[in-house]
Amino acid sequence: MEMQEENYVRIFDTTLRDGEQCPGAAMSEDEKIEVAHQLAKLNVDVIEAGFPVSSPIQFKAVERVSKEIAGPTIAALARATRGDIEVAAQALVHAPKKRIHTFLATSPIHMKHKLGKTPAEVLKQSAEAVRIARELVDDVEFSPEDGTRSEWEFLREVCEAVIEAGVSTINVPDTVGYSTPETYGKLFEYLIKNVKGADKIIFSAHCHNDLGLGTSNSLSAVKNGARQIECTINGIGERAGNTAMEEVVMALQTRKDLYGITTRIDATQIARASYVVKTITGMVVQPNKAIVGSNAFAHESGIHQDGVIKNRETYEIMTPQSIGLKSNKMVLGRHSGRAGFKDRVIRLGYNPKPEEFDIAYTRFLEIADKKKEIFDEDLISLFTDQSTKYSIHKYKLDYYQVTTGSQTVPTATIRLKTDSGIVEESTTGNGPIDAIFRSIEKAANIKPLLSRLIISPVTEGTDALAEASVTIEHDGITVVGKGSSTDTLEAIAISYIDALNRL
Ligand code: KIV
Ligand code: ZN
Repeated sequence: MEMQEENYVRIFDTTLRDGEQCPGAAMSEDEKIEVAHQLAKLNVDVIEAGFPVSSPIQFKAVERVSKEIAGPTIAALARATRGDIEVAAQALVHAPKKRIHTFLATSPIHMKHKLGKTPAEVLKQSAEAVRIARELVDDVEFSPEDGTRSEWEFLREVCEAVIEAGVSTINVPDTVGYSTPETYGKLFEYLIKNVKGADKIIFSAHCHNDLGLGTSNSLSAVKNGARQIECTINGIGERAGNTAMEEVVMALQTRKDLYGITTRIDATQIARASYVVKTITGMVVQPNKAIVGSNAFAHESGIHQDGVIKNRETYEIMTPQSIGLKSNKMVLGRHSGRAGFKDRVIRLGYNPKPEEFDIAYTRFLEIADKKKEIFDEDLISLFTDQSTKYSIHKYKLDYYQVTTGSQTVPTATIRLKTDSGIVEESTTGNGPIDAIFRSIEKAANIKPLLSRLIISPVTEGTDALAEASVTIEHDGITVVGKGSSTDTLEAIAISYIDALNRL
């Protein structure tokens, strides 16, 4: 039992294989490399880079991940046939640590209707596939597909046959997301207890989320001896998705008291990984998604905000910093109290006298009655209305010009009026807005971090006045600048200059 009893769980990431398999998540080769780099930063144990035989694009992607990504073991998927396995081995040839992951269905319904094979044939083919793979690589994983709808006794026989053939990991997939925490955990307990040679290999959990149980099932498997979890970033994957990596990792980290298990994941890379996968695949993350949803560390109710300001542990079981976010988000709205309002005002750099504060708070409540969420820029305008002492105009836009187009490198020229005269700078950018921002930064000789840009029309129609609001950070200070114009790009330039003036 020595392998099963280790208190460390390997994280096998399949975002690039099972994750990418779902509708709308296809990634280009370069995008896969970008995701793979982020997975390496997370320090995952295994990256399943693709299914090489399925297309030349898949083959190339696995080959590039094998060449370019250092650190994790690179795995490639293969059906249980010599052809598939040999192609997987070729794609993996450059990986310093490589694994072939081969699979064959073992459930009665799959064997009869999909494969048209008898259990005896499946048993033989499974062992044969592992033997072939072992001729090519040292590290072989086998998955009895639809494992959770297979007969346990037959699964036991298959596990013994593949162990005999030299497998090092047996993954028991809940392919259709049918299992429950109790039964999935019991299945692992049964296999680890009854399979001859179970102590020499790692058992792995692979869950789909059809009943919303991916994370619970994976944790139950761990509780019962599994020492690898297969998962994807943001839980993307076939149908309802796969187990979300961020959920299992943070559950094991936050409830170490219950599981006594660690992973090698650098959890502070989770927020970034989620962002990379979301932007590359375009698969949005629901706001209330555990760990990585935009509301996961947001508090709006007055009681909660007051509690978190006094001691964050009143309403937070993990810190936003633990997944790589800068801070929690106090959403100001109708339900916020004085404490939440005051905290935000101070964070924005204001220090109003008590009587100024009271007036501002009354006005805030009036606005909150009309608006769902009050942003930093609303508060700034609230204070700016009361006094002009917050807007010292150091820079003013005198003139701007942008050239852009599908065949042109976007270029901007900016002329600023400053306290000491006129400054003019031109530069190129990734797009017209980027070019504008870079030219302004050059002219003002400052490079703040842009954290948010919101552009909204004030009224309807293409000739509407555009309002831009930009949030920047510099030397630990966050400010929001605003600008409006019927020319959207000019509104953006003004908002950025306004933000610089507020620094
Ligand atoms: O869900 C599944 O059964 C799979 C296997 C190929 C491991 O993804
Ligand atoms: Zn799967």
